[in-house]
Amino acid sequence: MQENKVALVTGGSRGIGKACAIELAKAGLDVIINYAGNDEAAQKTVEELKTCGIRAQKKKFDVSNREAVEAAIKEIVDEFKRIDVLVNNAGITRDGLFIRMNETQWLDVINTNLNSAYFVSNPVSKVMIKQRSGSIVNMASISGIYGNIGQANYSTAKAGIIGLTKALSKELASRNIRVNAIAPGFIQTDMTKDLPVDSIVEHIPLKRLGEPKDVALAVKFLAVDSNYITGQVLSVDGGLVI
Ligand code: NAI
Repeated sequence: MQENKVALVTGGSRGIGKACAIELAKAGLDVIINYAGNDEAAQKTVEELKTCGIRAQKKKFDVSNREAVEAAIKEIVDEFKRIDVLVNNAGITRDGLFIRMNETQWLDVINTNLNSAYFVSNPVSKVMIKQRSGSIVNMASISGIYGNIGQANYSTAKAGIIGLTKALSKELASRNIRVNAIAPGFIQTDMTKDLPVDSIVEHIPLKRLGEPKDVALAVKFLAVDSNYITGQVLSVDGGLVI
């Protein structure tokens, strides 16, 4: 019997990651969601994913901890046998003006948003190379394209994610593995709940914040529907950065 395709979504218990997990489950993939803290939210998401008739599982680990990541990937491969889609989505913000940004703010964001993509993609790409197929989608941000005041740490991490996407797409293409990135604009999630919505919306040509599903549909397109797209950064931002 042909094994079902398997997706791993980091930071998949809520927000954009949860929406990605749902779209991938609707597309028929088994889905493992990784998360950092909230067991109850993760379990609820798993139950929702299972209604799509696929296998769903939650895996709690800190994406910025290399040993924890490696152990978790091993467990996933032991159980599911393969990983076809990886969405490197987990991320945090620790905003502040650069002159006041302390080392913890800097390192936490670089570790969670950028080093994590190395920690997770490294073992997963070995699995994909063995399979001779796979698709990785990295969650960047428009902040990594145009730079954002108060987000030197975050813009640096997200610009790094874009560089990783391009380099890895070239390294892995010959093994039939595609690597792309999404650059969301302002999306309504816990991450953006305290931002001044009205003044932001003024600058967005489509005159609204994005929904997690707006990003998830683009992730599903790059991860599952497309076949001949690699090394690209797709903005999902209502026209904010053109
Ligand atoms: P969120 O705060 O709602 O969700 C973040 C997720 O990441 C949660 O599931 C959390 O448990 C997980 N996470 C955080 N640190 C982790 C760690 N160390 N290990 C494992 N999981 C961890 O955020 P949202 O908005 O859904 O963001 C998802 C991604 O999209 C992030 O990479 C973010 O930078 C990016 N993004 C979000 C935008 C927005 O406007 N919301 C805009 C551009 C990019």
